[in-house]
Amino acid sequence: MDSTARIERTLDAILRTGEQPGAPPLLTAALRHAVFPGGARIRPQLCLAVASACGDNDPVLTDAAACSIELLHCASLVHDDLPCFDDADTRRGRPSVHRAFGERLAVLAGDALIVESFRAIVRAGAAHPARALKLVESIGAGVGMPFGIVAGQSWECEPKVNLRDYLRAKTGALFGSATAAGALAAGASPARWRALGDWLGEAYQVADDIRDVVMDPALLGKPGGQDVSLGRPSSAKELGLSGALEQFDRLVQNAVESVPECLGAPRLRALVRAESERLVPKSWCAELSRNAVPVAARIKPPVPSPAPTTQPW
Ligand code: IPE
Ligand code: IPE
Ligand code: MG
Ligand code: MG
Repeated sequence: MDSTARIERTLDAILRTGEQPGAPPLLTAALRHAVFPGGARIRPQLCLAVASACGDNDPVLTDAAACSIELLHCASLVHDDLPCFDDADTRRGRPSVHRAFGERLAVLAGDALIVESFRAIVRAGAAHPARALKLVESIGAGVGMPFGIVAGQSWECEPKVNLRDYLRAKTGALFGSATAAGALAAGASPARWRALGDWLGEAYQVADDIRDVVMDPALLGKPGGQDVSLGRPSSAKELGLSGALEQFDRLVQNAVESVPECLGAPRLRALVRAESERLVPKSWCAELSRNAVPVAARIKPPVPSPAPTTQPW
């Protein structure tokens, strides 16, 4: 089974665990809305690719770990879109959860996804309970205090913010947890794998900041221009578009170089390069330098090529 099928099947199975007779129908539907259809699923893909490079000798635990990370990511998006955060009407080309189900159910859906995410690891840990315990702690660190998503998002409420601390916590940390989880689920040491996720995650948020400025919201599937209009710290604002593009290239290069030498290394490097091109096509650099687009101006990027039906890695 390819990695995409593994991820979609496991996410569906985790949600079905809660879809018992007697479950509240609207919350049940809100959870499905938050998770399906997905976006890039890059975090679980990364987790699976690292597990495979480490032997993937407990695929049930690997799948649970990868999907628990995706559920945490989906929860973070549901909460991030709420009126008290980014007040976004759309997500993944559809109404955001609070627009479809109301704010109260959106808060509860995010909460439920967080809890179900950790329960999924516990249920899958029968063969290797010690690994499951380490996964809960390591993945929890990617969302908790002091350097996980919640800490990262909370920098938006602080009077003084260091941009890189903000990007690393709100996005980099869960990517670091994804690569570490791939190793942990396979019984390997996470230490040599974490840097790959950390670099790629930071690059991912820099790309998101660039895309927020330059992309048509219809292609983004979510509102554009948010970082300027909401006064969010952003690499595109702080470094300018060309500075952010250079920073993105540097971070991607660091991610490629941090892949440890192993049998799966070429596949992982290909994953990083494919993601980098999908997020910020090389052609944008030339386009932007020709037009000398100022920060917060909007250009129509080339329409990205359709996503491959099977993943190239
Ligand atoms: C969006 O993440 C929010 C960030 C942390 C940058 P993704 O771009 O991974 O969102 P989906 O899952 O593909 O929709
Ligand atoms: C949010 O960053 C990242 C999260 C951890 C949810 P953004 O606010 O930039 O993400 P988008 O642009 O709404 O996807
Ligand atoms: Mg947002
Ligand atoms: Mg954004």
